[in-house]
Amino acid sequence: MSDTVPRRAALSLLGGTLAVVAAATGSLALAPRAAARGRRPGAAPARTPRVERLLRALTLDEKISLLHGAPDPAALGEAGYVPGVPRLGVPPLRLADGPAGVRVTRPATALPAPVLLASAFDPDLARRYGQVIGREGRALGQDVLLSPMVNLIRTPYAGRNFETFAEDPLLSADLVAAEIAGIQAEGLIATVKHFAMNNQEKDRMSVDVRVDERTLHEVELRAFEAAVRAGTGAVMGAYNKVNGVWACENEALLTGVLRDRWGFDGWVMTDWYAAHSTDRALLAGLDMEMPNGTWFGAALRKAVDEGRVAERYVDRAVGRVLAVMDRFGLLDGSAPPRPDRDAPAGAAVALEVAKAGATLLRNAHGTLPLGSGSLAVIGPTGALPFVSGGGSAHVVPDHADSPLEALRARARGEVTYALGEDLFGRPIPAGALTPGLAEEGTRVAAGSTWTYDGTLTVGEADEWTFVLHFSGAPTSRPKVRLDGTELFPIAPGWGESFRGGLIGTTPDGLAVRRATLRLTPGAHRLSITAQGGTSGLLFRLRHATGATRAADVAEAVRTAREAHQVVLFAYEDATEGQDRTTIVLPGDQNRLIEAVTAANPRTTVVLNTSSATAMPWLERTGAVMQMYYPGQEGAAATAAVLFGDCDPGGRLTQTFPVDDDHHPVAGDPRRYPGTDGVEEYSEGVHVGHRWYDAQGVRPLFPFGHGLSYTSFAYDDPTARWTRDGLEVGFTVRNTGRRAGVDVPQVYVGPSSDLRLDQPVRVLGGYRRLTLRPGERRRVTVRVAPRTLSCWDTARHGWVLGTGRRTVWIGASSRDLRLRLDAAVGDGNAGRA
Ligand code: BGC
Repeated sequence: MSDTVPRRAALSLLGGTLAVVAAATGSLALAPRAAARGRRPGAAPARTPRVERLLRALTLDEKISLLHGAPDPAALGEAGYVPGVPRLGVPPLRLADGPAGVRVTRPATALPAPVLLASAFDPDLARRYGQVIGREGRALGQDVLLSPMVNLIRTPYAGRNFETFAEDPLLSADLVAAEIAGIQAEGLIATVKHFAMNNQEKDRMSVDVRVDERTLHEVELRAFEAAVRAGTGAVMGAYNKVNGVWACENEALLTGVLRDRWGFDGWVMTDWYAAHSTDRALLAGLDMEMPNGTWFGAALRKAVDEGRVAERYVDRAVGRVLAVMDRFGLLDGSAPPRPDRDAPAGAAVALEVAKAGATLLRNAHGTLPLGSGSLAVIGPTGALPFVSGGGSAHVVPDHADSPLEALRARARGEVTYALGEDLFGRPIPAGALTPGLAEEGTRVAAGSTWTYDGTLTVGEADEWTFVLHFSGAPTSRPKVRLDGTELFPIAPGWGESFRGGLIGTTPDGLAVRRATLRLTPGAHRLSITAQGGTSGLLFRLRHATGATRAADVAEAVRTAREAHQVVLFAYEDATEGQDRTTIVLPGDQNRLIEAVTAANPRTTVVLNTSSATAMPWLERTGAVMQMYYPGQEGAAATAAVLFGDCDPGGRLTQTFPVDDDHHPVAGDPRRYPGTDGVEEYSEGVHVGHRWYDAQGVRPLFPFGHGLSYTSFAYDDPTARWTRDGLEVGFTVRNTGRRAGVDVPQVYVGPSSDLRLDQPVRVLGGYRRLTLRPGERRRVTVRVAPRTLSCWDTARHGWVLGTGRRTVWIGASSRDLRLRLDAAVGDGNAGRA
């Protein structure tokens, strides 16, 4: 089980010191897709006669117009558009985000965040999730989907951890392959992204990720390779550099790995504004610049005219785009007609995924399922639908209910509600502000300027949060000054572009900015200048203080005390374009949870968060349910799992650390967020749960953890080496009194035949199953040879880790219940 690479693939993946030695031999082991099609990796895909004819008929300018984005005349609201060439019957391409549903101006099914899908550990569900997006994308006039995202969860801070799947390469690979199959089965072209190493948002536009060849292949690239094997039509290059070279012009990645090694025959586009050159990028293997033509428009024409780029490279890129269009029937009208949306079917899958991924982290004293007694719902996100994260994964949902409504609809006893934390502020009392501001807000007519000069009188020293609500573009917001200091200055660069999906917008759709400062007693001068711009402006200035916050907590405590049981909704609002700086819940939520759990220990905390959270209050809670961003059916799903209408079927796809000091990138700025523009992937192959095992660090919750309302026992393990890998068998029994979902996991230890620093254990496989009370089922999990292999940097290929290896079967990476030895590679069976 080893293969070697063509010479080209041995191009240095690294700038400078870590450069890989060129492959000594020219022998090839074919990448599966290339092999299946009987062609050599690296060779241009066999173009159909239709594509050849088109290439001959297109003018150079027409060809270039197919290699970059342009504004969409139909303005459907998608992220990108490539005009077609009507004279030759080449239709335009519309490219829409994204990972949790189709992001256009019109509503679409807002599916649960991909991390919630991944938590179900169910490739078949991923396929159906992909099918919903595939059908809707086509129904909404789109041709290409800018998804799935498969960059690994490497740091708990990364702003897009909700948008991707997991910290584990195998799980990510399984899911991306299944989702792409689903998307493309509906005729929408998938784009796996962001190739590669876009594992953090901090400095994403500039950071240079240094990673060694073995780590790259064993860790981050595995899911991308699976996407290529699944036939993804397109790949999106990342913003960052990899080993000193921009990902979007990285020949080692775009040609060496993608084409030569894996036999990819689709096209590579940039992330949005991620191109950096013309000839360099085109020759390195980039095919399309998005969303405009800064480098691949007039500049490309000039490069060809001046002889810096041979036209055959333009043809190569155009040929790749056209070949995919042809494969999807877009060139000869053979694509099936665009379907109508099937909103009820989309909603059903959205509900199913949110229930299947709901991850019960703790359940003490039978707190869950909820009983029929009175219920207090607490927290701002209890009454607000928290559908999705921010950035390009945001979808306009068909509808969205609040958990409070869903819990009320389901509960038998009385349901009360307390806000607990005021996210959007209250009007500044008339007595404190002279002259007063209109409570409902101020409208400034188009073309006019509105000014205000007043006095804010503060009675006692306190911490004030000013909350500005405004319509229109972020940069057109009013200027608000307190004692001469601007409260909401415009952030430079892309700083204003990305805000969270929830707390960045008021329930009635206005943008929000917050500023917190300590105010001394006495009079403060407040001045406002607001411009109506071209379409008018509506704004409100609200506030919260230490005193109002204390009052909100006190009311929550009263409400909790009077109820039999409590569900407290906690939030954290992530978006692409920025990372968190801590895993502590934002705002005063820890204080709220401490106070409420002290008042009523039968409190369930529901986490609508993007990724890992520190839980200093964990032991005081009755239960903790991780729901991430659950999509438009999230409220119904949350109510269903809390009341036990279904078993919470999710398991963690990432390790939750105890705090900010105990996780793979803690305490080493070179590792994260990087120093002097360089981020070192120095944990090597020990990503995620592997790092906790290698370092002997106790997590708060391990990878693979998630409770059921019933219990399961495993026994009778066997292991048998076959040509297709290691077959691990065991029996799972539901030992409780309810039907429930289990996800037993198989882990495999290192091979002593390989003299390499290997993980303590890797995830070998898993199986999701539903069992009735008392039911037993024999399960077989096949651990693929790839999972049992390491990347050999001398031969630039995979080498199987043969010999006796330990196999564990467990309910998480730390709840390993059965252990046996198995022989890998010699045909022997192993038994416990
Ligand atoms: C994101 C991509 C997205 C693109 C288009 C970029 O900022 O990184 O994931 O597909 O925008 O919206």
